[in-house]
Amino acid sequence: AQDTRALVESRLAVIPDFPEPGVLFRDLTPVFADGEAFHALAGALTAPFAGRFDVLAGVEARGFLLAAAASVAAGVGVLPIRKAGKLPRAVLTEAYALEYGTAALEVHEGELPPGTRVLVVDDVLATGGTVGAAARLVERAGWKVAGVSVAIELDGLGGRAALPDTFETYSLLQY
Ligand code: PRP
Ligand code: HPA
Repeated sequence: AQDTRALVESRLAVIPDFPEPGVLFRDLTPVFADGEAFHALAGALTAPFAGRFDVLAGVEARGFLLAAAASVAAGVGVLPIRKAGKLPRAVLTEAYALEYGTAALEVHEGELPPGTRVLVVDDVLATGGTVGAAARLVERAGWKVAGVSVAIELDGLGGRAALPDTFETYSLLQY
């Protein structure tokens, strides 16, 4: 895990004042673009939960990349958790707070068998609004949250504290 941490961190781009003044933005696109780093990161997100999940869920949009890569490596399926209005069949919807206003995530009801253990994957845990809504969707759909796994946790934004302690939250890197 320490090797993976160092490799991913060496590829991470850090951009001051994006998307607005005062924000130090951690950009994973150079990690995605590097085959070795991307492969190692995908494996690191599922390793702490080995044997404890049936499916990975990825949160649109950046979570899709990580969940898809990790699911193929782990040999399990992937559940896309989408922004509202994109899925064609009957959905469950969970709203969450953004800095200004709210957004909502959706899944198809009945997409997975009842009781399926779902590991929720995303790139960044900031306030926790996004993965919190994803976890509520999984529970409301009748599945089980196996955990939450993210590449980067931004300490100081309260994300971990905002999530229930009914499941484990893992992050590879903390800032
Ligand atoms: C970003 C990021 C996480 C979320 C983290 O996604 O990819 O999903 O914000 O923030 P939070 O913990 O405060 O909810 P964004 O909503 O910008 O969407 P994108 O993946 O489509 O860029
Ligand atoms: N990087 C990527 N996504 C984010 C960040 C960040 O620093 N903060 C909130 N979402």
